[in-house]
Amino acid sequence: MNRPAEKVPHTITGLLQSGTRTIGDASDAPDVDARILLQTLLKKDHAWLIAHGTESVDAAHVTRYYQWIERRARSKPLAYITGRKAFWTMELAVTRDVLVPRPETELLVERALGKIPLSEPLHILDLGTGSGAIGLAIAAERPLCKVTATDCSWPTLKIAEQNKGRLGLRNIDFQQGNWYGPLEQNRFSVIVCNPPYVPHSYYEATLSHEPRDALFSGERGLDALETVINGAGGHLEPGGWLLVEHGFDHKPSVQVLFQAAGYKSITTLDDHAGHPRVTEGRRADKA
Ligand SMILES: C[S@@+](CC[C@H](N)C(=O)[O-])C[C@H]1O[C@@H](n2cnc3c(N)ncnc32)[C@H](O)[C@@H]1O
Repeated sequence: MNRPAEKVPHTITGLLQSGTRTIGDASDAPDVDARILLQTLLKKDHAWLIAHGTESVDAAHVTRYYQWIERRARSKPLAYITGRKAFWTMELAVTRDVLVPRPETELLVERALGKIPLSEPLHILDLGTGSGAIGLAIAAERPLCKVTATDCSWPTLKIAEQNKGRLGLRNIDFQQGNWYGPLEQNRFSVIVCNPPYVPHSYYEATLSHEPRDALFSGERGLDALETVINGAGGHLEPGGWLLVEHGFDHKPSVQVLFQAAGYKSITTLDDHAGHPRVTEGRRADKA
């Protein structure tokens, strides 16, 4: 590990350069990561760092900065170091108990909002809510709606509740349990779900920091998707929509699952990287 030498100048510019070198290959954008860590630590924005590049930083902050830099150099996700992640229009608290919300999941939010008119007080379900990302975004954008969000993990739901409190939202409630288990006979107009969909055998160093139950599901990554798609019919209003996020190579299998479950208007949308990422379908009008 490239530890900071005594002689490294503890100016803002010096810290950014040294931090960038230390993170190195552990990140695609080590300069951005070093800057975000220093900004978070000093509670300043990007423009302030540029304007004050020659100023010195006090010893306590320098020590803390290099502790954070070293964690990032060991591939720890930036969001777990800062404890924050931007998602949709919100800043969410995140800890190791929740998956770090991904930008591609915003596509799921966007598609779901397209099916929820602003003026209608619909009941929406977010399955496997994690930090609350999807459910909170929908609750914020559709204040007349009631959102129910579930997860199997209590520690995860604690973070989601914290985020609800910080955002001051009242139209979302969290329930603990296995997929549709806690919902009894409740029916929803729209069900959204970003389930675990990574195949068990897949390995990537960066993923080792996140909760396994949030990521992995079966040999092909399809077990949770199958449960969610097959169970949705019993909880959707006639004409209601199911939208799921899935792996880039899951489109054919997920479309077959939607067809077999009797959905209409089945469509798969690509994420910003051009990968098939979200599939949606509509329950037939009559039950
Ligand atoms: C991929 S993460 C998605 C988290 C969040 N919705 C997001 O998009 O950032 C999947 C979530 O499903 C939850 N989960 C996994 N298995 C579950 C189950 N059997 N029942 C309910 N939730 C489950 C995990 O705890 C995790 O929070």
